[in-house]
Amino acid sequence: MKACIGIDIGTSGTKALVIDPQGRILASSSASYPCHHPRPLWSEQDPEDWWKATVRVVRAVIRQAKLKPADVEAIGLSGQMHGSVFLDRQDRVLRPAILWNDQRTVAECDEIEKRAGGRRRLIQMVANPALTGFTAPKILWLRNREPKVFERLAKVLLPKDEIRRRLTGEYATDVSDASGTLLLDVTRRRWSKRLLGKLELDGDLLPACYESDEITGTLHKAAAASLGLTTSCQVVAGAGDCAAGAIGNGIVQRGLLSTSIGTSGVVFVHSDSPQFDPQGRLHTFCHAVPGKWHMMGVTLAAGGSLDWYRSSLYAIGKGKGKGGKESRISFDHLVAEAAKTPTGADGLLFLPYLAGERTPHLDPRARGALFGLTLSHTRGHMVRAILEGVTYTLRDSMAIIEELGIPVRQIRASGGGAKNPFWRQLQADVFGKRVTAMATDEGPAFGVALLAAVGAGHFKNITEACRATVQMAELAKPVLKARRYHDRAFPLFQQLYRATREEMHALGELA
Ligand code: XUL
Repeated sequence: MKACIGIDIGTSGTKALVIDPQGRILASSSASYPCHHPRPLWSEQDPEDWWKATVRVVRAVIRQAKLKPADVEAIGLSGQMHGSVFLDRQDRVLRPAILWNDQRTVAECDEIEKRAGGRRRLIQMVANPALTGFTAPKILWLRNREPKVFERLAKVLLPKDEIRRRLTGEYATDVSDASGTLLLDVTRRRWSKRLLGKLELDGDLLPACYESDEITGTLHKAAAASLGLTTSCQVVAGAGDCAAGAIGNGIVQRGLLSTSIGTSGVVFVHSDSPQFDPQGRLHTFCHAVPGKWHMMGVTLAAGGSLDWYRSSLYAIGKGKGKGGKESRISFDHLVAEAAKTPTGADGLLFLPYLAGERTPHLDPRARGALFGLTLSHTRGHMVRAILEGVTYTLRDSMAIIEELGIPVRQIRASGGGAKNPFWRQLQADVFGKRVTAMATDEGPAFGVALLAAVGAGHFKNITEACRATVQMAELAKPVLKARRYHDRAFPLFQQLYRATREEMHALGELA
């Protein structure tokens, strides 16, 4: 039996998924690893953890689907975007990878805009402003703050591309993920020599850049042995997790928009041409569909806010989980507590800026808040306020998309905010629009498994692969009363940030 594998190197864990040549899912498996925060607003991971998890999940799906090594024709790679893996000439990892939600590079972002001749010029070159989570500021941070390490730097790879290197020995990336480095000429879909020159960075630091469905190499002997596959297994370029997730949701045509809630929250809209938000609040990146683009708004702590709330405020049971392991209260249980409280959580608002914020504020120093607490509020109210606050930030992105006149005829929800019926309904109520969930909601791993199937020749192109495999499931329609409430509360949510912005910054400086 022929099969293709999609692998997604996420922030909380790695997931692998196998599909048959028709795109039907045969098996999937996940393995988690920690994220380290050595200082406030820093976020790092050890690439070795990604590799160990990759080997584990690939072996698990091969076993579950009862595949023989030669059955797997192609692998597609996806991963958290923007993370930097710094390698020396011998391919040794020089320091922990700095992740997409790390905020240490405020000064370097200023430096980039200055060197580029201002924000407008920078947007002309690479379609986006300098944001702390992007990769280029991290390279400058290494040069400015760890010069001894920078001297030994030979290559900078994105998370999924570090796994590609370990699989194939190639240094390669794809245009969607490369867009998030801030070093890609997004309009022309190639590295920006102009910006590299202005930043005095050597272009050899970067890998070769491909369209998402192109083959970048085959497994080398040692990797094939580790995974239990053969050296004829091909690896396609793949995509950053946002574009890969959008492929899995079939966002491959004008008029389609998806929301997706993982650690971050993403509002993603397809575009036939590169369009720009002059204020840089939305990212303009290459799509994983060759010759197409997308715009997206990103909130940094979506599922991450709920996860923070659970791990900080709920006790961990000992010995109740599988095999006597520590057990955590489930997200569904938390949401069930929220569902018992009324719309608006009796006047409680949550600002989800726990890791600073990108869309719409572009403010690495923003902070989170629970506002409007009274003696009658319970933890269920707080969970509801978190879910509503996260959904309001998605509405912020949606509002910018509308303001730019980008047509939207269908909203498809995926990830945690779609699987849970309460959160799905909340999205419809907050957006005041119909929201459709997907029949297969397996995230970015499914999107890149489809790209692998295109690379292996099972579909003519990715649009055809989506047409053949992506189906809608439940539809949530806005409920008038709830919608009216959110229309009144949303401006207050927006105003709360504006009113407390200076205090947020001052607090950060006090600490
Ligand atoms: C996208 C972004 C996040 C990460 C999360 O710009 O920073 O969505 O890709 O994995």
